[in-house]
Amino acid sequence: MSDLAPNLPAVAEPTSFAFDAHAQEQIDVILRRYPPERKASAVIPVLYVVQNQMFRLSGSAWVPKVAMDVVAGLLDMAPIRVYEVGTFYTMFNLTPIGRYNLQICTTTPCWLRGSDEVVAACFKATGIAHMGGTSADGLFTMKEVECLGACSNAPMMQINDDYYEDLDGPRTEALLEAFRRGETPTPGSTIGRQGSMAEGGPTTLTDTAALWSPEKYAALKEDRARAEAEAAAAAAANPPAEPAKPEAPKPGA
Ligand code: FES
Repeated sequence: MSDLAPNLPAVAEPTSFAFDAHAQEQIDVILRRYPPERKASAVIPVLYVVQNQMFRLSGSAWVPKVAMDVVAGLLDMAPIRVYEVGTFYTMFNLTPIGRYNLQICTTTPCWLRGSDEVVAACFKATGIAHMGGTSADGLFTMKEVECLGACSNAPMMQINDDYYEDLDGPRTEALLEAFRRGETPTPGSTIGRQGSMAEGGPTTLTDTAALWSPEKYAALKEDRARAEAEAAAAAAANPPAEPAKPEAPKPGA
């Protein structure tokens, strides 16, 4: 049982943990990035390796306490230092979660664009009763998160490692149904928007298109040159009147 998260329901912790061959390969690559005496700096990527291995082996991406002890031994750290990192970052799950980790952004831009609808659709499609909960079938876990940096395509949510954007209630439900069927929907905009292009199409800075056409650019230069010549001719034909000379002062004045 974990004693790291007293406010969370007790979970059955594994009694041992060992890196598998795939994880070991990743760790060898990670450790080469740091001088041996600084290998504690690798704690975050190594904890990710733990979480990913747990996902591969159990379908749930989480970090058991016993695995943090193994990481502490590997990196010559006091176990408490590893617990500090694992408990600080919300990206590490210290209890088992569902196969699909639904992280729904509810920060202002997503909220203004309808994240309430997305949250409601997730509750409806998964049957989860409260934020942070896991569905009865063990497939989904729901979390409310702060801005994930995809505000231009709000509202959005992250599912495992992928972003799904431009959501609304029905599209969110359809997305979760696809995951339930074992499909992996294409990440990105759910309305087919390319990148973060304006919803109405590529309208931004369209007037600069003229500058990118050599013919149009040449015509633009000719127009400007003609206008300048006409202005110069008009100025020559109508020179400004000479300012009146001040009268010379009268003697004795
Ligand atoms: S506010 Fe939701 S991604 Fe930024």
